[in-house]
Amino acid sequence: MQEDLRSFLAKAERSGKLQRIRREVDPKFELAAVLKKIQTTSGKVALFEKVKGYEMPVVSNVFGSREILALIFDTVPEDVVREFVSRRERQIKPVLVRDSPVKEVIKTGEEASIQALPLVTHCEKDNGPFVTAGIIITRDPQTGIRNVSINRMMYKNENTLGCRMMPPQHLGIIQVKAEEMGKPLEVAVAIGNHPIELLVASTTLPFGYDEFDLAGALRGEPLELVKCETIDLEVPAGSEIVLEGEILPNVREAEGPFGDFMQCYIPVMENHVFKLKAISRRKDAIYQTIQASSLEDMHLLGLSREADVYKAVINTGAKIKAVSLIPTILSCAISIEKQFTGEPKNVAAAAFGCYSWLKYCVVVDHDVNVFDINDVWWAMASRSDINKGLFVMEHARGFPRDPFNIHSGKLAIDATAPLNCWGEFERKRIPGEESINLQDYL
Ligand SMILES: Cc1cc2nc3c(=O)[nH]c(=O)nc-3n(C[C@H](O)[C@H](O)[C@H](O)COP(=O)(O)O)c2cc1C
Repeated sequence: MQEDLRSFLAKAERSGKLQRIRREVDPKFELAAVLKKIQTTSGKVALFEKVKGYEMPVVSNVFGSREILALIFDTVPEDVVREFVSRRERQIKPVLVRDSPVKEVIKTGEEASIQALPLVTHCEKDNGPFVTAGIIITRDPQTGIRNVSINRMMYKNENTLGCRMMPPQHLGIIQVKAEEMGKPLEVAVAIGNHPIELLVASTTLPFGYDEFDLAGALRGEPLELVKCETIDLEVPAGSEIVLEGEILPNVREAEGPFGDFMQCYIPVMENHVFKLKAISRRKDAIYQTIQASSLEDMHLLGLSREADVYKAVINTGAKIKAVSLIPTILSCAISIEKQFTGEPKNVAAAAFGCYSWLKYCVVVDHDVNVFDINDVWWAMASRSDINKGLFVMEHARGFPRDPFNIHSGKLAIDATAPLNCWGEFERKRIPGEESINLQDYL
């Protein structure tokens, strides 16, 4: 059997990166509150063993730190982006398998109920519980090409979920096509997946590319898929739970509010409606949830975009060391070995050009840790020259949900030291500080 969520959890536990939560938690707010504590302290993967009112455990924070990302890619934290860039070069098509543990329990029609799942309510003003880690799989009704994405789904009743999907997001484009043909759009929602599948679902490929080919590339082997029971789609064979159903044509209903990735509530909007046809799952299924705006969410959304920025900066001829879109994905820090004065502006222009959501880009020297926002601030304070080092782009394309028109400007900050003045800017260090173990001195 191929690597799945369970084998990854076992790997995380062996590496000391899994936190079991043994006390029972309420899926309404309490689980999210404990999760947030873990996210802001240890950053470990969180496995909630007992969830009030449900048999199923709940897992979250599978992307809670760069160390966990490194575990996914079997590398060190500094090399995760380079590894992503090199692995994605050779796409590998998925293969179909006959059997999967996700078929251990199958409920169709009236027997199928979303109520069986420990859906989590994360935030105070969320309109009830949401599915937040569901990988939505569908096919373009004209071309037959598969699309895979993550979209939040709001609980409405035992067989109905609300779902937000808007063009230019590909699921939205595909739904419009189906609607124009007067057809419901068949979708499968796979929950409880190996991190690679979540990552590819959060990656925007050019329209018409199958994200599961990217999963093969990142895994280094074809992703195994299994057929659905009631719809003409395939899902990852390693999934814990699969909802099968369809998005109704010409139906929109109130959905939201929902505390989203920018840490604000998305207001109530008229959004799409998913009708359940079947649920299949493992006997001892693990439910998965993601807290919007957490570091996990940012890593999921950020990694493929960091890879794009990395590639674009390399193409300028720059000697890039690292790039980070954490903690907001609308701002980025890039470290380089500067070769000429003005190079940070070329670097920032490349980043803005390849990733339109980017609003701020800070370029720092190679001795600055871009994964440590304190270090980036230090570089800005101690090395940037505001008179020469700013570069503003007005009215460019920015983050698309922008009702107040505040996201279309871009600012780059050159926070590198002046060229050939390293003697004045080299950071002081204490010999041996890296290897000190304080316990030895206590
Ligand atoms: C946890 C999570 C929840 C998301 N929810 C939504 C959503 O509700 N609507 C949406 O348009 N995009 C959402 N996204 C972003 C899309 O999944 C992502 O942009 C994806 O690449 C879009 O797929 P596409 O390339 O097929 O358009 C979410 C991403 C994550 C990580």
